[in-house]
Amino acid sequence: MKVFIVKDYDAMSKKAAKIVRDAILRKPDLVLGLATGSTPLGLYKELIRMHKEEGLNFSKVITFNLDEYVGLPKDHPESYNRFMWDNLFNHININPSNVHIPDGTVEDLEAFCKWYEEKIDEYGGIDLQILGIGRDGHIAFNEPGTSLGSRTHIAKLTEVTRRDNARFFDGDIEKVPKYAITMGVGTILEAKSIILLANGEAKADAIKKALEGPVTCLITASALQLHPNVTIIVDKEAGSKLELEWEREY
Ligand code: GLP
Repeated sequence: MKVFIVKDYDAMSKKAAKIVRDAILRKPDLVLGLATGSTPLGLYKELIRMHKEEGLNFSKVITFNLDEYVGLPKDHPESYNRFMWDNLFNHININPSNVHIPDGTVEDLEAFCKWYEEKIDEYGGIDLQILGIGRDGHIAFNEPGTSLGSRTHIAKLTEVTRRDNARFFDGDIEKVPKYAITMGVGTILEAKSIILLANGEAKADAIKKALEGPVTCLITASALQLHPNVTIIVDKEAGSKLELEWEREY
């Protein structure tokens, strides 16, 4: 596990963007796993800049998003589909047919989950997966108690997560969907390499438990300790409770 504690959000985003850029330069048809939330926004901004100013080419890149709310239409302002188009895809030269985001509106959600897994396999698996972390230590929507071997499935969101995400739904928890489609922890662990990002004090406990606590389904991000190629980049605040001698870059 490579862990970097960097100065601030900007340094975290830029460091992650460089890793993504280098991966695309090495493999133009990179299979890139993407996350939503406020954490990766700076990374996406930097990738857009690299595309516009440095000609970073996304035309062959294949993307798979981690998760999506069940029941939100694709064009709903808070759907993860909309988030990805607004914050990344509309600003780079991605081929729309290379974009994969779970569809929370399909009738047969179980069949969709199976199809999503097969689709990832068809492309030879995810080369590089970007992750954020929830305050309760979740990755994607793998809430506490989710099996560490889980595959893409329908997840029931916890009260904590729904409360955290209510800020995007007029502050009204009732408007936050109760279920989501999410890649499983097992799906995520099959990615060839992983970057997890976290910033801000609110994530300090989750980061401490995920990195320096036991591997447990109660903190699904702790499963990353089992992965051979994971890079964790956190800002000073998110890393403030870490005790081991990780790399500090400030
Ligand atoms: C949601 C997403 C996660 C994300 C988490 C943290 O629960 N499903 O993928 O990591 O929120 O979000 P934020 O980056 O806004 O703190």
